Amino acid sequence: MTVDGKITTRNFTPVDFTSREDKTHLFRQRAVGDAVLIGHSTLKQDNVRLGLPDPKMRDARIARGQAPYPLRVIVSNEGRIDSTLKLFQTDISPIVIFSTVRMPARYQKSLRQKATLHLSDARSVDLSWMLQQLRSEYGIRFVACEGGATLFRALLERDLVDQLNLTIAPILFGGANAPTLTGLSKDFLPHTVRCSLTEMRTVGEECFLTYRIKHRRK
Ligand SMILES: NC(=O)c1ccc[n+]([C@@H]2O[C@H](COP(=O)([O-])OP(=O)(O)OC[C@H]3O[C@@H](n4cnc5c(N)ncnc54)[C@H](OP(=O)(O)O)[C@@H]3O)[C@@H](O)[C@H]2O)c1
Repeated sequence: MTVDGKITTRNFTPVDFTSREDKTHLFRQRAVGDAVLIGHSTLKQDNVRLGLPDPKMRDARIARGQAPYPLRVIVSNEGRIDSTLKLFQTDISPIVIFSTVRMPARYQKSLRQKATLHLSDARSVDLSWMLQQLRSEYGIRFVACEGGATLFRALLERDLVDQLNLTIAPILFGGANAPTLTGLSKDFLPHTVRCSLTEMRTVGEECFLTYRIKHRRK
């Protein structure tokens, strides 16, 4: 994010304001995950494949007993996901979509050829249930979520985030309507989320932070 907490540009373009080091940092986080999770808007805007270009990262995964690429997981309530996006043209790891029965039939038909669909009857996806399904059906223990902000906020609100990796880039955008780390909602989070700083590293003019999220007492 920028120094003033913004996570995207004026035109919601893919993040192009961070360094090559930050991109590698992202791939490193992705490479740890059994699965990588992304919100529909980020998938649409950034048209990402969610691959791992560095063969060394893939080799390290295999050595750890993981698949060469993480399982790719998309979350969408409405389910109008375009099956011609690059992600669906890349056959590197299975794709799993969590959505609802609101997904129109023609989208279901085209997406089923490329992905496994989990459609719930509720109006929105229950994120706890989704994580449980990933664990029980796919053996996923570590999920690397790449945003965007709406999905991150929804996970935070449900106390489902363990760790936050944050890069602060030396740039400011301003803009009251520009999404911050927790999106565009003007509402406070339902509860304060406390973090514990576990790592801080500077490379060039960027700051790489790792926070452990303190879970609420049940
Ligand atoms: N700076 C960064 O590191 C960074 C990282 C990621 C993304 N971004 C940027 O962030 C922007 C997109 O962020 P965003 O906040 O607009 O969108 P987002 O979180 O990527 O996606 C929002 C969409 O995901 C689905 N979704 C979100 N929460 C859900 C939930 N609880 N249950 C079911 N589906 C859920 C919904 O899809 P449907 O509408 O299909 O129902 C929702 O409209 C892009 O411009 C992207 O480039 C920046």
